[in-house]
Amino acid sequence: MDLSVQLGKLRLKNPLICASCEFTMTTAGIKAALDAGAGAVIAKSVNESPQAARQLDTAEYVLLDDNWHVIPWEDSHAQDASLFCRSGLARTPLHEWLPMLAELDAYARSKDSYVVGSITVAEAEPAAEIAAKMEAAGLRWIELNLSAPHGREAAAGAVRQITATETVADYVRRVRRAVSVPLAVKLTAQSDDPLELARVAIGEGADMLVMIGRTPGFMPDIETQKPILNSWAAIGGRWALPSSLYWISKYWRNVSREIPIIGTNGARYAEDVLRFLLSGARAVEMASVVMTNGPQTFSSMIRELQSYCEAENVSRLEELVGKAADAAATYGELPMISRSGYPWDRFTR
Ligand SMILES: Cc1cc2nc3c(=O)[nH]c(=O)nc-3n(C[C@H](O)[C@H](O)[C@H](O)COP(=O)(O)O)c2cc1C
Repeated sequence: MDLSVQLGKLRLKNPLICASCEFTMTTAGIKAALDAGAGAVIAKSVNESPQAARQLDTAEYVLLDDNWHVIPWEDSHAQDASLFCRSGLARTPLHEWLPMLAELDAYARSKDSYVVGSITVAEAEPAAEIAAKMEAAGLRWIELNLSAPHGREAAAGAVRQITATETVADYVRRVRRAVSVPLAVKLTAQSDDPLELARVAIGEGADMLVMIGRTPGFMPDIETQKPILNSWAAIGGRWALPSSLYWISKYWRNVSREIPIIGTNGARYAEDVLRFLLSGARAVEMASVVMTNGPQTFSSMIRELQSYCEAENVSRLEELVGKAADAAATYGELPMISRSGYPWDRFTR
């Protein structure tokens, strides 16, 4: 059973990527994800702003159930919960962070995997400088996160969410000029046209795209009548999956099949990974499920993907990429449906 996928020039042994998050902020977390079989691990993001790192000191993380009540991290339904949080960036100084990542990437190489350097942007030129340092340290792959859902809440200029095409162009151009290793660009859907952001990023030299970043959120607690976490925050959950797949499938159909796309936001089970692939993604970045269920998520998902391939006679997982997106009809192509009524007619009969 071949679970490997091609991401431009890079071949991943499987499509399961441990996404950038607090779990990938330490040597122990990154190694655990590699040991569990992740195809790649995106290290926690850094940038040039001390305020962005300081934001980690006020970060808080809760799980919300379907009814928007806080549940314990150990709850048996944690995997299905929404992760509502404030976050910050890695606090380790760059001169210690980069050698640590380089060493971990050497470890990753021994496991046929990657440790990827990640920058959640503040300003463009410093992002390019950090990217150049990542490459100089020996990292083989860099991710530029333009999608931070905390952008509006963070201290001025500490973390930015980039929603305008010309600004995406500027950031990608500068970072592209600074590095020659594969460059992934993570985009937000909170813009007029996420597909246009993708086109611009490709035009400026992105080697792969990551879609789609989490969303900002707000949730009152009806007992205390105060906001949960006392503030605005970012949120993600399984409910985000169809929206993420919408953009992935639209990208696959309308933007590019050559420049690979990595899905993120909403995958909690191996089935969700398959849904991402069928929509056009070649790999999937997962954070929440790693934080609720631990890195062994990767080993169990690998087994489940293998069983699916066996049961469905799929010899190469890559065969699935874009299959459902290709089968989607536009509204204009759909045949007329003759019907005798609607399910809700019973309320007015
Ligand atoms: C606590 C937390 C911290 C995160 N930090 C980063 C980050 O530093 N850089 C980044 O690019 N994405 C960050 N993300 C986003 C994740 O990488 C991922 O794209 C997102 O959580 C959606 O995937 P999921 O549904 O599997 O959680 C963070 C997510 C969470 C939950």
